[in-house]
Amino acid sequence: MNPPDLPEWRTLAERRRALDAVRIADLFDDDPQRADDFLFETPLLRADLSRNKVDSGTMLALVALARACGLERQRNDLLSGAVVNTTEGRPAWHTALRSAPADPTAAAGLQAERERFLDFAEQLRAGGITGTVGLPLETVVCIGIGGSDLGPRLVTEALGPFGRPRVRFASNLDPADLDAALLDANPHTTLLLAISKTFSTLETVENLQAALRWFKTRAPELDPSAHLAAVTSHPERAAALGIDSTRVFTFPEWVGGRYSLWSACGLGIAIAHGRAAFGELLLGAAAMDEHFAQAPLERNLPVLLGMLGVWHVNFWEAKTRAVVPYAQQLRHLPAYLQQLEMESLGKQVDRAGLPLTIDSAPVVWGEVGTNAQHSVFQFLHQGTSAVPLDIVLIAANETSGERRAQLLNQYALAQADALAWGDRLLGEEARPSYRAAPGDRPSTLIWLPRLDARSVGALLALYEHRTFVQSVVWNINAFDQWGVEIGKQLLARRAQAPGA
Ligand code: F6P
Repeated sequence: MNPPDLPEWRTLAERRRALDAVRIADLFDDDPQRADDFLFETPLLRADLSRNKVDSGTMLALVALARACGLERQRNDLLSGAVVNTTEGRPAWHTALRSAPADPTAAAGLQAERERFLDFAEQLRAGGITGTVGLPLETVVCIGIGGSDLGPRLVTEALGPFGRPRVRFASNLDPADLDAALLDANPHTTLLLAISKTFSTLETVENLQAALRWFKTRAPELDPSAHLAAVTSHPERAAALGIDSTRVFTFPEWVGGRYSLWSACGLGIAIAHGRAAFGELLLGAAAMDEHFAQAPLERNLPVLLGMLGVWHVNFWEAKTRAVVPYAQQLRHLPAYLQQLEMESLGKQVDRAGLPLTIDSAPVVWGEVGTNAQHSVFQFLHQGTSAVPLDIVLIAANETSGERRAQLLNQYALAQADALAWGDRLLGEEARPSYRAAPGDRPSTLIWLPRLDARSVGALLALYEHRTFVQSVVWNINAFDQWGVEIGKQLLARRAQAPGA
């Protein structure tokens, strides 16, 4: 299937031409109902799509394209654990981690492992796990990279402050990263938690070895095995490094790295925030899975957001998209989405291995609001390209009674209005061109009711499914990442070269 050959694609191309001279402001002027019609609710999240240059007919045409590309069948394949990652011959069944799959054996296995790692987290939180000299382990350093780091790091911070054990993350090969994580840590009360699906990722293995050397230098008498735990799909490799099997937590090979925070890879989240919070996170994601599976495509939020992404990339030539969460605790969201979207969708061939004739993933970037307003919003308002923007807000800020939290939301809405309508909202008086802001720039508002585990789970599942929807239309495999292998292989060659 070459998507541009579909009649639905040609319909959209015509609609694009028809909207050429139309401004977002005109769409509001022409349709008094627009603000209501473009507000979409899921059980947990709300999204306002009205500030995008799209009318109701185009939304329906986008959904028609999704249908013509086989979205419903492919969604059902994804959610039922069929082999959707064809280049690696396996499912991408991360949704089974948050709602019991129909197969009782698979469900029991997943639940048993979840109980194991959540028990471990609770024991640590209760001070029941001690190091070699009998002191409770109080500092947990999670060592992992990519999907074994970004999701757990994002959620651990998103759920707010926590006490002991304190949970820290180290990912970069640059020694400064692990040094910072170990700063002021006492080896006798420190646990190293190595998280790696393959347990062969260079950064993680090197950092783990470096951390073991830190133990040896700082406390030579200590038995490191009492201070180690691991999460992996290859427990035998963790065992080879001397990690006790009772502290090795596993997850199936069919969980992709960037989709793995729902598995034992999220152990750091559970250690920081507890079993109940982790359960809430899964419930929130499961509610979004249910919405994705059941809601009519015309009101299905992951479908609508994914298809708006297609609209922006393929019909308005958007080369980038930005994400600005108005919540300091969500400051890692852009980095997480960069991996989710660019590793999943940064592909140049389709599922049959043929070159794509259309653009796929845009560059994803972003920064937390309001900081972004003082760095990148100049570009968004007056730069030469219109960048589709997601603004993520917390509704509870409005009733929090905290002036800064209320202002935060007002500021986000003011930015969205300025992007859509431009300076004309300030009145019609003439202003020099350098002060003019044309507006007509698309943005989407995504509201979480409050910043809690359930809402965060729903938000991240929303973005996972949004990504999948785009992969269906672009006819690409969202679950492999062969591009990153080349650099790894070249490094191996360099490392073997004489004199390296
Ligand atoms: O860099 C590619 C990648 O395979 C990611 O997809 C993955 O999340 C990351 O490396 C880490 O891999 P692992 O969990 O096997 O250490």
